Amino acid sequence: MEKILVLDFGGQYDLLIARRVRELGVFAEITPYNKIDIEEIKARKYKGIIFTGGPNSVYDEKSPHYDPEILNIGIPILGICYGHQLLAYMAGGEIKSAGNISEYGKTEVNIKPVSLFDSIPGKSICWMSHTDYVSKIPVGFENIASTVNCPCAAMADRRRNIYGVQFHPEVTHTEYGKTVLHNFLFGICGCSGDWKMDDFIEKTVADCKAKLKGKKVLCALSGGVDSSVAAVLMHRAVGDNLVCVFVDHGLLRKNEGDDVEHIFREKFNIKLVRVNAENRFLSKLSGITDPEKKRRIIGEEFIRVFEEESRSLGKIDYLVQGTIYPDVVESGKGDASTIKSHHNVGGLPSVIDFEGIVEPLRELFKDEVRAVGLKLGLPEYLVMRQPFPGPGLAVRIIGEITKEKADTLREADAIFREELEKAGVFPSQYFAVLTNTQSVGVMGDARTYGHTVALRAVTTDDFMTADWTRIPFEVLEAASRRITNEVKSINRIVYDITSKPPATVEWE
Ligand code: XMP
Repeated sequence: MEKILVLDFGGQYDLLIARRVRELGVFAEITPYNKIDIEEIKARKYKGIIFTGGPNSVYDEKSPHYDPEILNIGIPILGICYGHQLLAYMAGGEIKSAGNISEYGKTEVNIKPVSLFDSIPGKSICWMSHTDYVSKIPVGFENIASTVNCPCAAMADRRRNIYGVQFHPEVTHTEYGKTVLHNFLFGICGCSGDWKMDDFIEKTVADCKAKLKGKKVLCALSGGVDSSVAAVLMHRAVGDNLVCVFVDHGLLRKNEGDDVEHIFREKFNIKLVRVNAENRFLSKLSGITDPEKKRRIIGEEFIRVFEEESRSLGKIDYLVQGTIYPDVVESGKGDASTIKSHHNVGGLPSVIDFEGIVEPLRELFKDEVRAVGLKLGLPEYLVMRQPFPGPGLAVRIIGEITKEKADTLREADAIFREELEKAGVFPSQYFAVLTNTQSVGVMGDARTYGHTVALRAVTTDDFMTADWTRIPFEVLEAASRRITNEVKSINRIVYDITSKPPATVEWE
């Protein structure tokens, strides 16, 4: 399989670059610049290398550099932003700071007709975000693009197939960004575009079959996208040697436990152990109001239940985990601040003695995982569904958790989701929260004193920041009417209109 190396110099767009490359049908892997040397790059037979951007200035003492010999190993290189400046610096050019006139945002760029810019008009819009610029082009390179404030917006050494662009071709604001990447991959690196989901499934199944022959494999199924796809993929490889354990902690959404059970048992014939542990979790959570304590209790209890179950299954050789590529990249950076602070329940139980772990999805992005799921025949509603936190409704019931509250919230949440889906409105995440507030209402001739439910819907790409979704009033109105009519004990509905920051997506 053809591979492109995305050599990461600390930019914020490394994942996006890899994703764009894969969208074009070429496999891309991200590696931090200090985790791979030239010998390894040669050994891995990359078709091309992309240097990412980064926040530094090449003359900073601490700025990331690479062995200039990389320019001579015969693999085409495309440098982006900082990567472009670094290439210029390594090849003997000069970089200057534009001081306080940094170029930021959509900018008109003039280009020359070179292969990197095939099928792109002479003038177009690109996305710029830089303060430094290449002030002296290195010997052997030619200037192939410019903007008003950036004399060298792109450069090329056609003999060695080394290119640099100051703008960001990976972001959609760059009109012909995708064409630039396409030209680099296909025209310059000579890729043929052999990265396909079907091949991925076939290869992964074959590899796992060989590796896990005769081994017993265990999967902690949460019903979320990643663990579901991992389980079905693994089932293709090892069949009945796979056992899935699904711990129902009693804080799932309406019908979720039954749905998961039905799909995996009936549709896929997968051996599934469902552990109904509602009482156990609720009694541990009794009287607990602190959100982090709730999370900790659920996480710990989950591992305990999972361990007990797996022990009762006899000797297990391998554990399947639904780790996906962004998780791998985040942990690989070794920067604690970037590692996800939220871990799904189902974290690795360290006490059980496994021979190893299998992570069949560790090379895939979320949208690729979804594509694999659909190809494997998982239902669309499961594969495309919104994220759901591991601790489930526990972090959506403010204050103490009781079964009655969980049941009430489940109903309200199901109605809200149903009304949105019926109206064809699909925010990135949408759910109901049972606030810890009761208020006075009136129903018929009687006064009521019921729960207040908050509806929450956000639009976001990465969940790091999020905007509250402008849901049409009619949809909110229908949800409000139905919830107050159909769910006893709820007499007031509010809609959360805070973005993240300052709020978070979840209320706890
Ligand atoms: P916040 O509330 O931090 O949520 O803005 C961002 C995303 O993370 C999810 N989330 C969790 N997921 N365990 C999880 O598995 C958790 O404890 C947890 N807390 C928040 C949240 O649903 C949103 O998608």
